[in-house]
Amino acid sequence: MDKHVVLSGMQPSGELTIGHVAGALRNWVKLQHEYDSLFCVVDLHAITAKQEPAKLRKWTLDVAAMYLAAGVDPQQSTVFVQSHVPEHVQLAWVLTCLTGMGECTRMTQFKEKSDRYSDNINVGLFTYPILMAADILVYNAHVVPVGEDQKQHLELARNLAERFNHRYSETFNVPEPYIPDIGGRIMSLQEPTKKMSKSDPNTNASIFLVDSDDVIRNKIRRAVTDSESTIVFDEDHRPGISNLITLLHLATNVPVEQIVQQWSGATGYAEFKETVANAVADYIRPIRERFLTIRADTDALNAVLESGAEVARKRALKVLRKVYKKVGLVAL
Ligand code: TYM
Repeated sequence: MDKHVVLSGMQPSGELTIGHVAGALRNWVKLQHEYDSLFCVVDLHAITAKQEPAKLRKWTLDVAAMYLAAGVDPQQSTVFVQSHVPEHVQLAWVLTCLTGMGECTRMTQFKEKSDRYSDNINVGLFTYPILMAADILVYNAHVVPVGEDQKQHLELARNLAERFNHRYSETFNVPEPYIPDIGGRIMSLQEPTKKMSKSDPNTNASIFLVDSDDVIRNKIRRAVTDSESTIVFDEDHRPGISNLITLLHLATNVPVEQIVQQWSGATGYAEFKETVANAVADYIRPIRERFLTIRADTDALNAVLESGAEVARKRALKVLRKVYKKVGLVAL
């Protein structure tokens, strides 16, 4: 039997953070051995916000290099750039014609982003989740490893797959989200009720994968917690300290309950923060070091992306042809 297909992607709209690893990348690395995996850098999604061309170019290669540095193996997985495979956009058009306006209006991320970028509420931002559905369905993916914030987008992809199958005939798998129980939403170090984000203007709020050991340690030492002094995991009432516990779990693999138990006698946060700071610095260091080596060899990186695009295009074209035929578009 053929292996099931995994697909996921990240926007090159800034430097990746530890949130990207916790919510998605570490699962990509894990799943690539059991699944037929494709991982793309979604540059077309990134231009739904204003991007400086030179930065977009740099970040696209940075993100691809970070995939490899985190352990995505290009021998096992197809790694490519979204805009190198025009079939994504072609399928997106067909899906756009199946999507109700209300389905896009409802998206919480659209609402948030149109509040944040009120001077640039473009149609691309509005139809963004349809392009994401096309990214997934154009490979007939079964599983999509993402962080919690992508759940609603995934729901739309599932609805569109079902709608197409119902209207024409069985064509798409209905993709399943794969979201970690712990680490699916890493919070800002400065405002722990907000998601950690690569575009947060306060750089102390995010741990970037390119941050040095000292920068990482300092950011964690300065993380906003609360006025209590016990180490308790309660994301609703104690978001700051819970986020640090989650980071320690991510960095050491020690279960959350065990961490809480080990620190049950603590009467302050200073020592705990120091432990988290060192563990996270140790966790990020090898990723950063591999990233610097991989990123320095642009020819090798481009070669990975070129062969990835070639493989992805062949696969995407097959699905797109089938879709066009079912819809009634005349083939030449
Ligand atoms: P993006 O680029 O915002 O984030 C990439 C992935 O990282 C996860 N993530 C987080 N997880 C936990 N805590 C955080 N603080 C955190 N920040 C980011 C995101 O959930 C995501 O999985 N729309 C997508 C990109 C996309 C995509 C796709 C994903 C486009 N097409 C097809 C999957 C399949 C996005 O903006 O992710």
